[in-house]
Order: sequence, then C-alpha cells, then structure tokens
Amino acid sequence: MAPHELKSLVRTIPDFPIEGIQFRDITTLIGHGEGFAATVDWLAEKVTASGAEAIAGMEARGFIFGAAVAARLSLPFLPVRKSGKLPCDTISVDYALEYGSDTLEMDPASVHEGQRVAMVDDLLATGGTACATAKLLRQAGARVEHAFFVIDLPDLGGAKKLEDCGVAVAALMEFE
Ligand code: PRP
Ligand code: ADE
Repeated sequence: MAPHELKSLVRTIPDFPIEGIQFRDITTLIGHGEGFAATVDWLAEKVTASGAEAIAGMEARGFIFGAAVAARLSLPFLPVRKSGKLPCDTISVDYALEYGSDTLEMDPASVHEGQRVAMVDDLLATGGTACATAKLLRQAGARVEHAFFVIDLPDLGGAKKLEDCGVAVAALMEFE
C-alpha cells in the first residue's frame, strides 16, 4: 500500500484528550490487516537499514508497532514502561507530553553495554517521550542513534528535539 493510502487509514478525533488537540488515532490503521502489515514492513526496512540490534518500544502504542517489527526481524524487544508496572529493579525518567507529564521505566539489565538500539513508536509530537527513552536506554548502556515513527507532527518540533539529542528520525507520514 502507498503511504497516502496508509495515511487515509489514520482517524482524526478533534479535542481528545483535551480541547484543541487533534488526536491522530492509529486504531483504524491497525484494524486494517493489509495496512498494519504494510506499516510494519516500512518500519522493519528502516530498522534493518539502521543496523539496530534491538528495538525499544514505549508503552502503550509503541508496543503495538515495536513488538511487531522486532518479531518480524527476530530482534530482541525492550519494553519501556509507564511507572509502577515492572516487577524488577528499574531505572526511570520523568518527561513532559503535548498534554501532560509522565514517568517511564525500564529494566537496565535488558540492554547489553554498547548494544545498538532503535526506538519505534506510533507518533512523534514534542519528542518528549522519545528523548526521555533515549536517555533511559543510554543510562542502561545502549547506543541510541535512530528512532522510527508511523506519524510525525512536524509543527511540534519533535524531530529537531531528537536530532539535538543525537537521534536521527524517520516517519512514514506527517500530519499538520
Ligand atoms: C503518545 C504516543 C507517543 C507520545 C508522543 O503516547 O504514543 O509515545 O505520546 O508524544 P511526544 O512526542 O510529545 O512525547 P501517550 O503518552 O499518550 O501514551 P499511550 O501510548 O499509552 O497512549
Ligand atoms: N500523542 C501526542 N500527541 C498526539 C496526538 N496529537 N495524536 C495522537 N497521539 C498523540
């Protein structure tokens, strides 16, 4: 499927979760079998070209795409979780969102020193989530140089923020 066809599968819901936010909802994209497969194919090609040895996905929507890509490529999947979910010792980072703030945690033992880890998520907005995730992965010993997204909202400046923290960005589609 062509990128413009995949873009047409993303649903926009106005004023969610708060007034003024145009919520770009991937429920309709992953609910379309061929569209989901083509999206995972695109991400998998980018991850392969990056030379990544593992994929990190951010809870929750990053798990949908990150885990699918990791399984497709037989790569390890590293779940980066919202706070209070992991039963092991964790490292954590606080971060700001387009509409709030949150904390991410991971098991530092899931990363090998110097391992090349690519981040995969559904959407790049301000870049707060991905920058915080890169920080966490690096604290655990990973080399983090690439992040791949289904959707970029370029007006929110996330790609610039990520590039400033040493992470190159690619996205399948953009929305204003
Ligand atoms: C969304 C999205 C990204 C993040 C992007 O996740 O899935 O992870 O926001 O925003 P940013 O670039 O401004 O950080 P959210 O925290 O809403 O959680 P969810 O996946 O559980 O819905
Ligand atoms: N996460 C942050 N901003 C978002 C948006 N506008 N739509 C969907 N998910 C988001």
